Amino acid sequence: MIHNSKVHKILYGGDYNPEQWPEETWEEDMRMLKLAHIDIVTLNVFSWASLQPSENTYYFDKLDKIIETVTKHGMKICLATSTGAHPAWMARKYPDILRTDFHGMKHKFGSRHNSCPNSPTYRKYAKTLAQKLAERYKSCDNIVAWHISNEYGGECYCENCERAFRVWLKDKYKTIDAVNEAWDTAFWGHTFYDFEDIVLPNMLSEHFAENRTTFQGISLDYRRFNSESILDCFRLEYDTVHAITPDIPVTTNLMGAYQPLDYQMWAKYMDFVSWDNYPSHDAIPENAALNHDLMRGLKQGMPFALMEQTPSVTNWHPYCALKRPGVMRLWSYQAVAHGADTVMFFQLKRSIGACEKYHGAVIDHACHENTRVFREVAQLGAELDKIGSLTLGSRTHAKAAIVFDWNNWWAIHYSAGPSINLHYCDEIRNYYKAFNNLNIPVDLIGVDDDLSGYSFVAAPVLYMVKPGYDEKIRRFVQKGGRFLTTFFSGYVDDHDLVTTGGYPGKLRDILGVWVEEEDALPEGAHNSFTYKGITYPAKMLCDLLHTESAQSLCTYEQDFYAGMPVLTRNAFGEGAAYYVATSSDAAFYRTIVKEICTESGIRPLIDTPDCIEVTARTNGNGTFLFFLNHDTQEQGVTLNCTGKDILKDTLYKEGDTLYLPAKDVAIIQTA
Ligand code: GLA
Ligand code: ZN
Repeated sequence: MIHNSKVHKILYGGDYNPEQWPEETWEEDMRMLKLAHIDIVTLNVFSWASLQPSENTYYFDKLDKIIETVTKHGMKICLATSTGAHPAWMARKYPDILRTDFHGMKHKFGSRHNSCPNSPTYRKYAKTLAQKLAERYKSCDNIVAWHISNEYGGECYCENCERAFRVWLKDKYKTIDAVNEAWDTAFWGHTFYDFEDIVLPNMLSEHFAENRTTFQGISLDYRRFNSESILDCFRLEYDTVHAITPDIPVTTNLMGAYQPLDYQMWAKYMDFVSWDNYPSHDAIPENAALNHDLMRGLKQGMPFALMEQTPSVTNWHPYCALKRPGVMRLWSYQAVAHGADTVMFFQLKRSIGACEKYHGAVIDHACHENTRVFREVAQLGAELDKIGSLTLGSRTHAKAAIVFDWNNWWAIHYSAGPSINLHYCDEIRNYYKAFNNLNIPVDLIGVDDDLSGYSFVAAPVLYMVKPGYDEKIRRFVQKGGRFLTTFFSGYVDDHDLVTTGGYPGKLRDILGVWVEEEDALPEGAHNSFTYKGITYPAKMLCDLLHTESAQSLCTYEQDFYAGMPVLTRNAFGEGAAYYVATSSDAAFYRTIVKEICTESGIRPLIDTPDCIEVTARTNGNGTFLFFLNHDTQEQGVTLNCTGKDILKDTLYKEGDTLYLPAKDVAIIQTA
């Protein structure tokens, strides 16, 4: 699909479900899709019920015909394995396939994404179906990717899962004593005598709310276990199709910052990352940008696929607001600007029944091409044809990185205190937005990623420091890197057990500070600090800290800790480490990010108003600067480069003004 000898342009298409329609309509669909310059269809996402109508019957005739039709019309295929929703007969005959939820309720047949990941029945029949599909369609040259299942997610607390959890724990800890130690079960007399004593942590056991648990250790291990159990299902199908069609890359559609699954671990087993982008009507553009960068970071910057987005409305949002004219195009290019090599929709044709009949589609219920949405889709399709292979495979070269870690996210989520207002993603976004608004490329990286290519690494709220990660940061700073972390960092190890000796634990020498106490401010309350003449709020959490080797750059101004440091800098080896002891506002994040970037030799791509987002991707054809006007007004940008707008064929030189109408996009190719 991407990085594939069969692909010579940004693929354009999406989910197509002709099985929901009479065959006589298919040719007309093809006519319209071709008119919109669509060249890829994702097929077979939810067809398990018709492919395997009973335990020993398989039926592929309809899929054969669909594949034949789209092939005849020159479409490429992203072929799904259909295992995102099991057939009704399977649920009736093998109830082990049904999930049990967080409240202990065993589910009946219904909905989708509904199979227990540890069900032997699910695993057996999912693998068989994947195998049959791969065998049957292995010689279809136009299949450019496998799409395993669909939006894996959720969790299960059934008895299969409970048994599997014990096996997983035994494998991880070997002895029950090691489990007791890791979970600190001496607290509240929770000592386990045998692995058989262990039950899954939900509302029937350790939890008293979704994010409230009496034992973080067990809840954290359950999160890991659940993510890995579902990953095992993906891997089972991956191995099956890969063995039969080794040249067809395999993916599954991810969902951005989706908490239940550790996508950094998942991506190691995927050939390429793909994801579904559904920003809400009031989402700020930086949110989608952050998700794109997070998805790009999963495979160390390799281009990803935008697998789904709506061409117009998203029916499951509280307000099914229309994407305003130009917005679908703008957001499509935003995905490309951040590393996507495909633009794909859910869905190509609107269904007439069930819960997604009012979800946007390229072919609307009107069933003709004279619609605003169709025209916009066709216009974008023509542009993508024009771009051709120019930008394919291009990379983002970032010298700055933000650390994002799923295990850390879970641990913060379950942490009892210090504030209900502490949300990991919010703190990540605070810093991300500063980079994005400054037009400074930034990678979102995991704790397994190498730091040596970066000059500045920010790790907001790095609450959990996994074994060895402090050493990685230490080496990075010693060699001249700039590092920033914040309040509530360095507190615990990978079991959520506190590192004693003063926070931020193992990061203490790098930062040259120690934190004695942490004050949680109620909603609306704030302290303040003045940095370089400007006063900023100190919100939510305020560390009471002491400098050791660090230099205090400014101090709190109110309350009994007025005069204590709030921002510090520690010269360490050839680099420096910054500590931000509180949560503040956008103006502060912008100031501190800009300052540390300047100190690290990192410059913005170009200065623009915040509503103009600029990114860069580079390949053998040059560097492509993407200018995205998120504003509702025309904006002008004074260019600092010479190049050609590849959409309009306009030539620009340094000092020229690029005028961008509201929601418009320019892609400037520089040498
Ligand atoms: C998800 C699914 C699709 C569809 C869309 C609707 O992304 O993968 O099957 O349900 O949502 O927004
Ligand atoms: Zn289960």
